[in-house]
Amino acid sequence: MKKLICANWKMNKTTGETESFLRELLKALGSLENSVEVVIFPPFTSLCVAKELLRGSPLKYGAQNCFYKEWGAYTGEISPLMLKDLGCSYTIVGHSERRNLFGEDDETINKKLKALLKVGIRPILCVGEKIEERNANLTHKVIESQIRIALSGIEGEVDELDIAYEPVWAIGTGNPATVEDAKEVHTFINKLLDELNPRREGRTRILYGGSVKPSNAKEFLKEREVGGLLVGGASLEVSSFLDIVNSL
Ligand code: PGA
Repeated sequence: MKKLICANWKMNKTTGETESFLRELLKALGSLENSVEVVIFPPFTSLCVAKELLRGSPLKYGAQNCFYKEWGAYTGEISPLMLKDLGCSYTIVGHSERRNLFGEDDETINKKLKALLKVGIRPILCVGEKIEERNANLTHKVIESQIRIALSGIEGEVDELDIAYEPVWAIGTGNPATVEDAKEVHTFINKLLDELNPRREGRTRILYGGSVKPSNAKEFLKEREVGGLLVGGASLEVSSFLDIVNSL
């Protein structure tokens, strides 16, 4: 299975900045190794630019969030159908910033996953514990509950999505999880997925995210349990993102 490397730009880059980044990245990247899939997640406002520039390239793109309705009176929201129309292959769902700053709960995340699967966009479900939960030995409990509720009713489609383990305390802090800790949680998630869908084909990649940098990407990627990386801060500069992609 190809490892998946994702650039989560969060609320960064204008259309002009997106254009220069993508032009520079495409030029520097040339072709992509067969063993890796690279996906850029710009803000909604830059998806059209991504569509334009990435056509025919080895890079894919997707959205950082969506709503779960197809259309209607939901001022300010964007539907999976609209993202499909823009050519998005992936969409991130349930990022900890959505959960903690915008009050997104597991039930809402479940609806978003269902809506994305319905239009054929591959979701990347984010899960992860807060520091006080880790310190109280609740990591497994928190992640199990996040995944059970998020996948409720769609256990049969688990091969059609990927999961990013992003410990909240590691995001944007410069303090990543150790490779051992990440492997331990990834193994736990894999076992849980086996239980939820014993007939699954194992196409769900478990990514690690949280303070991934060029200096630590390789140690995560070389592990069988790590299906890829979700990169925030270090994906905003072409050179550091390229170093991460090339570390495979
Ligand atoms: P970070 O963010 O790489 O800046 O820690 C990761 C994420 O939030 O997806």
